[in-house]
Amino acid sequence: MMGFTLTAPARTLFGEGCRAGAVAEISDLAPGVLLIRGRSVAWVDDLEHDLRAAGCTVETVFSAGEPDIETVRAGVRAARARDVGCVVAVGGGATIDLGKAISGLAPSDGDVMDHLGLGAARAGPMSTPLPFVAIPTTAGTGAEATRNAVIGVPDRQLKISLRDPRLVARLAIVDPELTHDAPRSVTLATGLDAITQLIESYLSCRANPVTDALCQATLPSAIAALARVMEAEDPDARACLSKASYLSGLALANAGLGVVHGLASVIGARGGAHGAICGRLLAGALVVNRAAMGAQDRGRARIDEINGLLLSTLDRGGSSQDGPRALTRFVDHHGLPTLSDFGVPEDDDMQVATAAATASSTQANPVALDVEEIRSILRQTR
Ligand SMILES: [Fe+2]
Repeated sequence: MMGFTLTAPARTLFGEGCRAGAVAEISDLAPGVLLIRGRSVAWVDDLEHDLRAAGCTVETVFSAGEPDIETVRAGVRAARARDVGCVVAVGGGATIDLGKAISGLAPSDGDVMDHLGLGAARAGPMSTPLPFVAIPTTAGTGAEATRNAVIGVPDRQLKISLRDPRLVARLAIVDPELTHDAPRSVTLATGLDAITQLIESYLSCRANPVTDALCQATLPSAIAALARVMEAEDPDARACLSKASYLSGLALANAGLGVVHGLASVIGARGGAHGAICGRLLAGALVVNRAAMGAQDRGRARIDEINGLLLSTLDRGGSSQDGPRALTRFVDHHGLPTLSDFGVPEDDDMQVATAAATASSTQANPVALDVEEIRSILRQTR
């Protein structure tokens, strides 16, 4: 039997209202807290106040957009200057990734570029990261359960991951109520990211029995919940998407992803929300991956299973002929941006496909695709 390893947060609190336990859990970890936060969720003000009231010192870093090299350096300087004992990130996937990177790099020697393998010097091994607490306010990336932090390198038009199993959160606090105020466009993009992650992990050539079980159990309800919440506000559907996001993070941390995320890492460096890019590319990738597989391929049966699920859940009017078309109609209906909105003109398809072929996520795709096949995913998406 194929062996596997499993990486997951040491402890997870999940459920509506579970954020009430955050102060006690965090102050137990360390009295000096570096708090990484976005500006959109008012509850973080309460958390900051309550941590101070509980005797913690709190140094706050505001995160805006996806982290790049300079943002990470500034956060590492802030952590070292205050000699903090733990890092807490409250926000979307980008904020959580920033916190994750700082927790690993603050106690380590060497610059972030060296640790990414892009610097002039070779970094030594990362030191044991500071305890990291992830509290997501969107339901999508599952960053609270993953072991990598995506960092932008703007002058090279590159997004690259800092990876280490020890970067996984010590504690994940997943309270679906924190996602209730997310705008529709964010809900759509992040929900599609979680669904893409579950699908790519399920199809991945590195899938294992645990990730298979997670994906099979979660995908049907995740697709249905996204369809429901896009029609009307629904707390149960929100909770279902938060669960799907967390479990998709567990799945991808242990099974890897596929060509959609490989393409998204290239396209995302030009702009556009990560989840929107994934959601836009997913239908074309299902078609191209299926065509590249043999009739007896295990992955082909799985794609047929997914396509059936997409068709039966998203095609309410009965006018789509297959799962990928039902998905495309669904994302079009809800106004998901297109490839041109992401800054990818048709002339660039070859360049994007060539870069995506060697992206790390692509290496877990269930079938090896050549550059022409990857390019055809972009063509099908237009
Ligand atoms: Fe993703």
